[in-house]
Amino acid sequence: MELSTQYNNFAKKFSEVHDTGENSNNLNRKLFYSYLDFVKPGMKLLDVACGDGLDLLYYKELGAAVYGIDASKEMVALAQSRMPDADIRTGLFESLPFEENFFDVVLSKYAIMTSSDLKPVFKEVHRVLKPGGVMMYLVTHPFRQYFEKKDNTADYFEQQIVDSNILNNTILVKEPSHTMNEYLNDFLFKNFDVQLFDEQWDPSAEQIDGKKYPGFFILKAVKRQGI
Ligand SMILES: C[S@@+](CC[C@H](N)C(=O)[O-])C[C@H]1O[C@@H](n2cnc3c(N)ncnc32)[C@H](O)[C@@H]1O
Repeated sequence: MELSTQYNNFAKKFSEVHDTGENSNNLNRKLFYSYLDFVKPGMKLLDVACGDGLDLLYYKELGAAVYGIDASKEMVALAQSRMPDADIRTGLFESLPFEENFFDVVLSKYAIMTSSDLKPVFKEVHRVLKPGGVMMYLVTHPFRQYFEKKDNTADYFEQQIVDSNILNNTILVKEPSHTMNEYLNDFLFKNFDVQLFDEQWDPSAEQIDGKKYPGFFILKAVKRQGI
């Protein structure tokens, strides 16, 4: 099933569960927000895969001029109903419908790992960011994807479609697995200065022999001047 179809199918449920405040997504959101002190009033900010727009509301409160994009029309409709004045578009993060050097900030939470090839996503984010602009994203940690794979004989380096249980196991999506090297890649180090990398345990992750392991990570990087 196409990912946008998956998200169209459960957009309303996602939005209801999302807003309850009692899920790990909300705990992780607070951590993500705690790193946003660089967002200043008037900055042009894009939320890549903005979902139902809950985060966009917060970014607007910070004073940013907010823009959103999501593959799911249903998600975009929910986001637009929260924020009628915002520019929220249906589209893919592999091909962002914005001009180059446009944004001061590009943010994304729990989304870009759904792309089987991350290179076009980073290239697109780089293209639409101004030099000196900031990219920050949160994704499911490759260790979590690896440990929780149903096929536990799997090769870490081989991409597989894995189950991803989100929002306290209320919603199941299928997504491709990734390695750390796909995130910490040559393109990143050549074109950005990495400022923050934070890997964290996720309380909703499966317990495997009672061990804790990273469930997600946040990475922040600044687009180099003159590239
Ligand atoms: C788990 S939701 C996260 C939404 C929001 N960022 C949040 O943290 O609440 C993932 C979102 O990614 C979107 N998505 C998945 N693949 C996409 C793609 N290739 N381009 C744009 N959006 C995509 C889905 O439609 C969905 O809204």
